[in-house]
Amino acid sequence: MMNSSAGERREHILRAAVRDRLVEPESAVLAAFVDLDEVAASVAALHKAFPDSVDVLHTFAAKANCLVPVLEEVRKLGMGCEVASAGELAQALSAGFAPEQIVYDSPAKTRSDLRQALDLGVAVNADNFQELARIDEILAARASTTGSAPASRIGVRLNPQVGGGGIAEMSTATATSKFGIALEDDGNRQRLLDAYRERPWLTWVHAHVGSQGCPLDLIAQGIAKAVAFAEEVNSTCGRRQVTGIDIGGGLPVNFADDETTPGFDDYVAALRAHAPALFTGAYRIVTEFGRSLLAKNGFTAACVEYTKVSGGRPIAITHAGAQVATRTVFMPAAWPLRLTAHSPDGTLKQGEPVPQDIAGPCCFAGDLLAEARPLPRLAPGDIVALLDTGAYYSSTPFHYNSLPDPAVHGVRVDPDGHVHFRPLRQAETIRDVLARTGR
Ligand SMILES: Cc1ncc(COP(=O)(O)O)c(C=O)c1O
Repeated sequence: MMNSSAGERREHILRAAVRDRLVEPESAVLAAFVDLDEVAASVAALHKAFPDSVDVLHTFAAKANCLVPVLEEVRKLGMGCEVASAGELAQALSAGFAPEQIVYDSPAKTRSDLRQALDLGVAVNADNFQELARIDEILAARASTTGSAPASRIGVRLNPQVGGGGIAEMSTATATSKFGIALEDDGNRQRLLDAYRERPWLTWVHAHVGSQGCPLDLIAQGIAKAVAFAEEVNSTCGRRQVTGIDIGGGLPVNFADDETTPGFDDYVAALRAHAPALFTGAYRIVTEFGRSLLAKNGFTAACVEYTKVSGGRPIAITHAGAQVATRTVFMPAAWPLRLTAHSPDGTLKQGEPVPQDIAGPCCFAGDLLAEARPLPRLAPGDIVALLDTGAYYSSTPFHYNSLPDPAVHGVRVDPDGHVHFRPLRQAETIRDVLARTGR
């Protein structure tokens, strides 16, 4: 297995999964796989990309794949965890992250979310001025009861307003984005400078420019504005108040082929060009990558149940649709997925490609993974693999039609090619489905 291509490795894993009955036409019509060896390689590439001279905490954005064993895995690889809800915070704690390794971002934190994070010592990035006022209240109450300052690193999320990327819905630094404090809006810069001056505990600056579709230069320009703002705080306060910059995530993923491009080193090169002050050692850095660490290291396998021809178009009805590929089904132009066709034993199907619709099981006509996709002609019992689905797919279900969430299996491959699976999530049973629907 040592020198196999990514495609050969996937086929090898899928064949082993069929042999182990993890993909099976009655009991396991849909299953997802996360290649843990490759996740380790991606995390290592991230660590290697940043110079040792800067103090960086790389956190994994739990939203990209919130399965607790996945979080545990990245923790063991030396990462922290970025969370954006009380649920994700619970997942991170359950995965064993220490509070100081966790960063809490969300535009809608409640008072109790904030209190919990500050009590634990989890880092918090305030999204807006109203949230800052709530933090003031919580800290004042805390100081009067415990007399202690919070252990949490506290920052403000800036919207550097550098514009959007290729997917509007993923672009968080547009002029009117719902995230963060809009740096260039009238009066905001001064209000922010005042806010920092009045709050000595406000020691971090946060920016996340966008996720998928944002060019590296755009992301780096946004981060550069956050760094320049940190320098401005420090010079106007006359002290090094801001000691850390949280640069978010957002490295785009190549969904077109097996190349991992751009890489983390390309991103660091862009950051060095636009924001050299980040690398002087004056600031601690936090990163929050998600998709770029997991997407290409997972795939989903779906059995073909039936095939038919309608209006002259061959259609394969599979068990993967909007419930596991929500973004692809609802926004196919923005989130196209590569698909491969396999025989029932998992081997890659040979044969002349024929344009086929690859449909899912959900009850709406648009539940298609791909339209007129050229693939070897599929037959009932075949398997379709959805590539690059390690992030934001099976872990992010859409519960329409009460379809059960599929099993997710962790995979490791020995140097001698032996494939080992371990459960990252059990498949939901119909009983589980009833439990989440009121029974
Ligand atoms: C604040 C924040 N940080 C990090 C991420 C992770 O982004 P990505 O998975 O593109 O790296 C997101 C994604 O939405 C985010 O909103």
